[in-house]
Amino acid sequence: MAEELSISGNTREQKYEALMPQIKALLAGEEDVIANAANIAAALRQTFGFFWVGFYFVKNNELVLGPFQGDIACTRIQKGKGVCGTAWATGNTVIVEDVEKFPGHIACSALSKSEIVVPVFHKNQIIAVIDVDSDRLSDFGAVDKIYLEQIALIWTARISELNW
Ligand code: SME
Repeated sequence: MAEELSISGNTREQKYEALMPQIKALLAGEEDVIANAANIAAALRQTFGFFWVGFYFVKNNELVLGPFQGDIACTRIQKGKGVCGTAWATGNTVIVEDVEKFPGHIACSALSKSEIVVPVFHKNQIIAVIDVDSDRLSDFGAVDKIYLEQIALIWTARISELNW
C-alpha cells in the first residue's frame, strides 16, 4: 500500500487521473468495506480539499452515516429526502450547483454550497452513496461524476462481504 498520496496535476481531471491508481493501490490489499471507504474519503479530501466527503450506507431502508472527512453530519437520511436520498431513490448521480435551490436539501452545515452524490451499486442494488460537499457554488460537474462513479466501482470491486 502506498504510504502517502502523491498529489499532482493542475486541473481537477489531472488530479483525478493521478489519484485513481493510488486509490486502487490503497484498496488492493484490503477487503474490509469500512476501512476502504474511510481511505477513499480521506484521499478525496486530501487531494481536492473538499469541504466534506463521506459515505452513507443503506441500512434497514434508510441511509446511515459511514466513514467521512469533515464536520459532524446528519446520521440518518430517508429515501427520497435531500440530495443523498434523491440519488438513492433515483439511482442516478445528482449534482447540485446551489444547495439552497435544491428542494429538500438537508443542510448539515451552512457552509456547504454545492454538492454531488453518487449512488453505489453492488450486485444490482444500491448499498451506499458517496457524498461530496463544497463550500463553493457550482464546484462539481461531469468530470467529478465520471471519476467518483469509477471510485464507487473500485470500492465495490473490493467488497468480499457486507457485514453491516
Ligand atoms: N446535504 C445532504 C446531507 C448530507 S450532508 O451534506 C453531509 C443531503 O441533502 O442529502
